[in-house]
Amino acid sequence: MEHKREKFSSSLTVFLATLSSAVGLGNIWMFPYITGKNGGAAFIIIYLLCVTLVGLPVLISEFIIGRTTRKNVYGAISRITDKKGFKSIGIIALLATYFLMFFYTVVVGWVYSYVFKSLTGTFNGITLETANSIFYNTSTNIILPILWQFIALLTGGIILVLGVKGGIEKLTKTLMPVLVILLIICAFRSITLPGALEGIKFLINPDFLKVDISVIISALGLAFFKLSVGTGSMITYSSYYTDDNRLINTASKVAIADTVVSLLAGLAIFPAVFSFGMEPSSGPGLLFNTVPLIFSQMPGGKILCIMFFMLTAMAATMAMISLLEVVIVFFTEELKIERKKAIIINILIISILGSFAALSASSEGSLGNKLIFGMSFFNLCDFLVSNIFLPINGLLIILLIGYFVNKKCVCNQLSNNETLNNKKVIGILIFIIKYIAPVLIIIIFLKSFI
Ligand code: ALA
Repeated sequence: MEHKREKFSSSLTVFLATLSSAVGLGNIWMFPYITGKNGGAAFIIIYLLCVTLVGLPVLISEFIIGRTTRKNVYGAISRITDKKGFKSIGIIALLATYFLMFFYTVVVGWVYSYVFKSLTGTFNGITLETANSIFYNTSTNIILPILWQFIALLTGGIILVLGVKGGIEKLTKTLMPVLVILLIICAFRSITLPGALEGIKFLINPDFLKVDISVIISALGLAFFKLSVGTGSMITYSSYYTDDNRLINTASKVAIADTVVSLLAGLAIFPAVFSFGMEPSSGPGLLFNTVPLIFSQMPGGKILCIMFFMLTAMAATMAMISLLEVVIVFFTEELKIERKKAIIINILIISILGSFAALSASSEGSLGNKLIFGMSFFNLCDFLVSNIFLPINGLLIILLIGYFVNKKCVCNQLSNNETLNNKKVIGILIFIIKYIAPVLIIIIFLKSFI
C-alpha cells in the first residue's frame, strides 16, 4: 500500500518548519565557536558569500527535487534521474544524516543537561572556573552524556510519532518566534556588559590575513550544515510543501533568517566572551561556558538562563527531528517499515553508535584518545559530514538540477507552472546553479586536497 503523505498547511508553516530545520545548534553553538576559531569578521564575510553563491542555490535545487517527486531522499533521487552517478546522492545523504546525528545528538544531550542544571541551581554563584569545570564534567562523564543523548533522541521520536502536521508543524509554529525574542534579549545583555566593545569589534573588523584555505572550507561546510543541505532534510521537508509555495522566496527568506539568527547568537556570545576575559577560539565549550556567566549577574538572570537553554534545546530538537525524518521516511517508503517501528529502530541505531561520539567528544573523555585517521570518533563524524559528504552532495545536486533535469520541469517548479512573474530571477539563478556554484565548490575542494 502506498504510504499516505501529509503536507504542511500554508506558506507560513512551510517557512517556519524549513527555518526550524536550518536553525539549530549550527547557529547557537557551532557558528560562534567556528567564527571564534577562524578569526571573526573575515570568516563571517566568507561565510555569507558561501551561503549566497553556493548554499542558497543548492537549497533551491533540493526544493525542486523534493516538491517534484514528493518522496524520501533516496526515492526522490531515483525518481528524478536514472543516471547512475547521481543516484549516489540519496546514499550519501543518508550516510551524512546518520554521521551528523551521531555527533549532533551528543551536543543536543549536553544542552538538555544544561536545562536540567539551570533548573536545579547548578549555576548559582557561577565563576569562570566553575563554568569550565561544569562543562568539563558534562563532556567527560561516562554515563550522563549517553543518557542525555538518549533522552534527546526519545523526545525527537515522540514528536515525530505525531506526524508532519501534529508534530513538526505545531511545534515549529509556536517555538521559532520565541527563540528569536530570547536571543535578542541575550544579545542585548551581552553587548551592555563592561568591555563588550572588543567582542563587537571582533565580529565586525575583518582580518583577512587570518584567511587561508582551511577557513574557506570551514565556511563552506558550515553554510551547508547551517542550511541543512546535502543531508536530505530539505528534500524531505520540501516533499511536504504546498503546490503554491514560492520556492525561491521561501529559500531566500530561510537563508536570511537563518543568518540573522547566527549573527544574533554571535552578538550574544562574543561581547560576553571578551567581557569575561575568555578565549574566543576555545572551541565547542564556548556556548556552555559563556551563557551561564552572561545571565549570572543580571536581575531575573536565573529564569532567563533556564529559558535560554530550554529554547536552545527546542531549536536543536527541531533541527534534529528534520534529520531524523530523513531516515524515518526512507524506512517507511523504501523499506516499507511502519512509521512507529522506523522511529524506534532509528533511535536505537543512533543512540548506540552515537554513544561512541558521546564518549569521544572531549579529548579527556573515556574514548577521547582513541583516534581514527588522527581524529576522535566525534571529530571524525563532524569532519566527514562538513568537509566531505555535504560539499560532495551539494555539488552533485546542483549539477543534477543544472544539467540533467529537464529545464522545463525546473522552470515550472520555480515559477509555479508559470503563474509567477519571475523569469529574470530564474534566469540568474540557473546561471549561478550551472556555472558559479559548482565551480566554487570544485575549486575549494581541490584546493583543500592540494
Ligand atoms: N541546520 C541544522 C543546524 O544548524 C542542522 O543545527
